[in-house]
Amino acid sequence: MEPKHYRFENLAPELNTKMFEDHWKLYEGYVERLNETMEKLANPYDPQRMRSASTASGEWRDIENDKTSLTNAVVLHELFFENILMPPHSAPMPIGPMFQSMIQEHFPTVKYTDFWSHIVKPTAKAARGWCIVGWDTIQAKLDVTMMDGDFGPCVVGLYPLLVIDCSEHAYAQQYGIDKGTYLDHIARSLNYSIMEHRVATIHSASELMRTAIPEQAEDYVRDMYHDNEKDFGFPDKDSYNEQGLPPSTGLDSRNEMSVSPNPRVQSSVEDGAITQADLQEAYDRVRSLAAVTFKSEDDMFDSEVRGKSSEFKEALWDRLREED
Ligand SMILES: [Fe+2]
Repeated sequence: MEPKHYRFENLAPELNTKMFEDHWKLYEGYVERLNETMEKLANPYDPQRMRSASTASGEWRDIENDKTSLTNAVVLHELFFENILMPPHSAPMPIGPMFQSMIQEHFPTVKYTDFWSHIVKPTAKAARGWCIVGWDTIQAKLDVTMMDGDFGPCVVGLYPLLVIDCSEHAYAQQYGIDKGTYLDHIARSLNYSIMEHRVATIHSASELMRTAIPEQAEDYVRDMYHDNEKDFGFPDKDSYNEQGLPPSTGLDSRNEMSVSPNPRVQSSVEDGAITQADLQEAYDRVRSLAAVTFKSEDDMFDSEVRGKSSEFKEALWDRLREED
């Protein structure tokens, strides 16, 4: 990979262009070292390296650690440079509407105008490496996190929306130990249109996944009902409808409820032992989980769907016993 180039004259006037040009040279060094590391990994069948694999020390550990820290160093510097470079001669930008509404939704107790001073700046002051405002793709929430270095610790699945380099090398040349003023000047240089673009990427990805997921989610629901088939006397698989769903689920392939033709289940639905809303909620839950997580199917069932299904099982089982 080649290092990206940036026009550091487009920083807020308070920020020293020379300091950022020197900072870029550090970034260039990270790119070079990452390329060297990836070259070593190009041959996965190096017997000497394989023999070195040990938790104590050795080449395997060194290369893997380098790969992680250098990848983070390269990616985070690029994200940082991009989100502090404004269009030429522009005044400080207002926050974009999508980022603003994300903040308002996920930090309801903080005015979005205070988000920087009350949440981001203190986190950045406390960080020895990076402050990242990101979208947690696993828990589906906005988060403000810090990393003490390129190694982490970091939140798995965090998609960075705003990245701030908080290392001493990022500010000491101009600000000495006055990190607060450095962060105040960074705040005036934030390119909120870049952040808006990143939020839009999150929305697009979620939308894409939502449209791609129902088929996958149906598989989960279908399997869940396959599991329950014996207990509940659900119909043979041959009688499943054309979408491959057992008719008793009352769900069709477009995630819409349909009237269940299975009289025993239908009776339970009518009596309130299982509500259509419960079934719908279970289906929605599977779909949304599949859209935001990359957990294994088993994990997904164990943590969410199977738990929900057990409630169904109990309610339905009670009802069926009564009928028998
Ligand atoms: Fe840096």
